Amino acid sequence: MVILFGGEKGGTGKTTLATNLAAFLATQDMDVLLVDIDPQGSSATWANTRWQYSLRPLIPCVQISGDISRQIWKHNNKHEYIVIDAGGGDTAELQSALRTADVFCMPIKPSQLDLWTVQRMDELRVETLGVNGDMETYAILSMVPANPALNEAGDTVAALQSYPGILIAPVLIQDRKSYRDAARVGKSVAEIGDPRASREILQLASFIFGIE
Ligand SMILES: Nc1ncnc2c1ncn2[C@@H]1O[C@H](COP(=O)(O)OP(=O)(O)O)[C@@H](O)[C@H]1O
Ligand SMILES: [Mg+2]
Repeated sequence: MVILFGGEKGGTGKTTLATNLAAFLATQDMDVLLVDIDPQGSSATWANTRWQYSLRPLIPCVQISGDISRQIWKHNNKHEYIVIDAGGGDTAELQSALRTADVFCMPIKPSQLDLWTVQRMDELRVETLGVNGDMETYAILSMVPANPALNEAGDTVAALQSYPGILIAPVLIQDRKSYRDAARVGKSVAEIGDPRASREILQLASFIFGIE
């Protein structure tokens, strides 16, 4: 199964969710490969940090560029799960990766500026269905402010409903310092012991993979 994290914007939580889900799968003894197609290489740096500090489970990670779909096809029959972390933007790499993705995950911050970028991604989704007709597209509310009075998440969900082809994941990833703290040391939020953030990742994993 190939899960692709992408989106028009940087800084929405793609790397954070890709690395936490990869760690979740590896901790469940699933065979997962993390694939970093963002030239910034943040996922690869995170996986490298695990190697340096011998953090178990070690998570294999490859950095690839160019013709992504062909390279993913080669890896796909060797791993149960492939989690791809794409950078921000409508790049040739993202378009190539979309051809092989079973699931396209778009983390979205609850702000109008982020919502404006969904239109292009939805067009890309429709274009992709021509060559990869079974792909599912999920919007994941990410970095949601803790203050419920703002109701920005509710407003964002309402706005996303005008995209019937994009399913809204039934989980809110809140803005939590532990996501940043974990990333710095090559860990997941479960590994640094934040039960509330771990629960969010568990909910996301059970939604995407159907595993508990
Ligand atoms: N849910 C969250 N709560 C707090 N900080 C977050 C959260 N998700 C991401 N971050 C932080 O925000 C920044 C951008 O996140 P990142 O995952 O690198 O985004 P992207 O890969 O989409 O560019 C990083 O510093 C990351 O640690
Ligand atoms: Mg990133």
